[in-house]
Amino acid sequence: MPCRDGRNIVKKLRSRAWFDNPDNIDMTALYLERHMNHGITREELQSGKPIIGIAQSGSDLNPCNRHHIILAQRIREGIREAGGIAFEFPVHPIHENSKRPTAGLDRNLAYLGLVEILYGYPLDGVVLTIGCDKTTPAMLMAAATVNIPAIAFSVGPMLNGWFKGKRTGSGTILWKAREMLAAGEIKNEEFIELVASSAPSVGYCNTMGTATTMNSLAEAIGMQLPGSAAIPAPHKDRAAMAWRTGKRIVDMAHEDLKPSDILTRENFLNAIVVNSAIGGSSNAPIHINALARHMGVELSIDDWQTHGHHIPLLVNLQPAGEYLGEDYHRAGGVPAVVNELMKKGLIHEDAPTVNGRTLGQNCRETPILDHDVIRPFDLPLQSEAGFLILRGNLFDNAVMKTSVISQEFRGRYLSNPDDPDAFEGRAVVFDGPEDYHTRIDDPALGIDEYTLLFMRGAGPIGFPGAAEVVNMRPPDYLIKRGIHALPCIGDGRQSGTSGSPSILNASPEAAAGGNLAILQTGDRVRIDLKAGTVDMLVSDDEIGRRRAGLEAAGGYPYPDHQTPWQEIQRGMVSQLGDGAVLKPAVKYQRIAQTRGLPRDN
Ligand code: FES
Ligand code: MG
Repeated sequence: MPCRDGRNIVKKLRSRAWFDNPDNIDMTALYLERHMNHGITREELQSGKPIIGIAQSGSDLNPCNRHHIILAQRIREGIREAGGIAFEFPVHPIHENSKRPTAGLDRNLAYLGLVEILYGYPLDGVVLTIGCDKTTPAMLMAAATVNIPAIAFSVGPMLNGWFKGKRTGSGTILWKAREMLAAGEIKNEEFIELVASSAPSVGYCNTMGTATTMNSLAEAIGMQLPGSAAIPAPHKDRAAMAWRTGKRIVDMAHEDLKPSDILTRENFLNAIVVNSAIGGSSNAPIHINALARHMGVELSIDDWQTHGHHIPLLVNLQPAGEYLGEDYHRAGGVPAVVNELMKKGLIHEDAPTVNGRTLGQNCRETPILDHDVIRPFDLPLQSEAGFLILRGNLFDNAVMKTSVISQEFRGRYLSNPDDPDAFEGRAVVFDGPEDYHTRIDDPALGIDEYTLLFMRGAGPIGFPGAAEVVNMRPPDYLIKRGIHALPCIGDGRQSGTSGSPSILNASPEAAAGGNLAILQTGDRVRIDLKAGTVDMLVSDDEIGRRRAGLEAAGGYPYPDHQTPWQEIQRGMVSQLGDGAVLKPAVKYQRIAQTRGLPRDN
């Protein structure tokens, strides 16, 4: 039977195939009896009400998202209020700080697991409880692949951290504290106290790291209710938003409003523009490109420069600026940023969102409430704050986050009046983070303020999972002389909470045959930001000789697989510039529509 919600009549809900299928009474009985065993009734399960999944990402293994365990109660109440039935279930945990060898390994694993759940169980819609870095893309990607009605709900950022009267931002303070430790300004005890001060409550990182970035983009791309991304986790409005999200997904199930109805190319371009304006993480292109792959929307790494580079930095959050999550929320959050960009015609205002209204309709009334935290468009923190996409004889593409290029950095590298956008230096090459940690302070490497630090073996195959290790601090002896950052280039990632102006995500990585594998310490490398190039100044003949040597040696070596998943993923993962997706998974699109229902069990 089609179901009716008073406004729309939509096709039969897919959960009916489990709970109310007269053609297969045996299986219907079996599905019903086991779901009834905790007290839910046949009356409810056969009521024609949508069954709404709550994809629970919070657990003791993911403290950033743990508050979702509490918030899920309000989501459930919203679902009930609107006439739905909630089925909460766990998703594979991904915790940025504590998963070894890197949380990057697990995004695609959580994705795969959630695809199976959304497709194989009686769900008519789902609330995705997003938060910590990769939990957001993993769940959005799965919802895109299965394409049942889905809405995202952020856990919210932690309260602001404070130490001796100053804001301390999660992640960002770590890089600062490391420098202070290296310079001998603090001891181990104070180091830990300083770092811990940055995380004073439940919630995700309060800086503009990958978590705030991806939660903001989940809203800007239309998958969260307006205003949902930035409300601090402990705030009452967070629980109220949980209830509203629960209510809304029930209507979405009736309306059959699916990710494919929302995630258009215009929405992706909006996400790129907003990412520049907020000073978003260099992990965003990886995750947003992956989402586009799974949604079947065309989006390339070059779109990030074309549509994002000229956008100014408006949001004054650490690491590029000074404030934190509470301030971002109070200043108006994502809707205020979008509204400001809209006034300059930089947003596709007709882009659809989960509440059935357009992004323009959702954001038009939200003013900026604190002009120091969210700057007016004409008084930005920095003009042209988006990513540059660089390429050359070392890699096909890599990303540079320009919003964090400091004056110190500009003065040292970009001050030649004849060549103001280019610099050249001697390469020092590290094979993985262990090699870097062992040797960085060794004076024999001859690292000075013009050295370029290279990190390889840190990509999706080499590490495996692509580690956040490209941002390398200079040797102690340079920090003591006031040199806080050297140009860093590599085939791994960088934490969004780091303020290092690195060249990241180089694709192809050394382990996939990229020329980073043949770079040698002592080679000269030239970086031209205007031309968008990074080249080793090594002759083609010499490159040919080195490549022949590499091939004879069987390619760039990487550590043995330690788990089955490491081996499986290494065999099928794409490069960072392409979203690091599982290549065989991309052809499975909108499977709830294109592949029918799964067979009865
Ligand atoms: Fe989880 Fe930053 S470590 S949000
Ligand atoms: Mg990170």
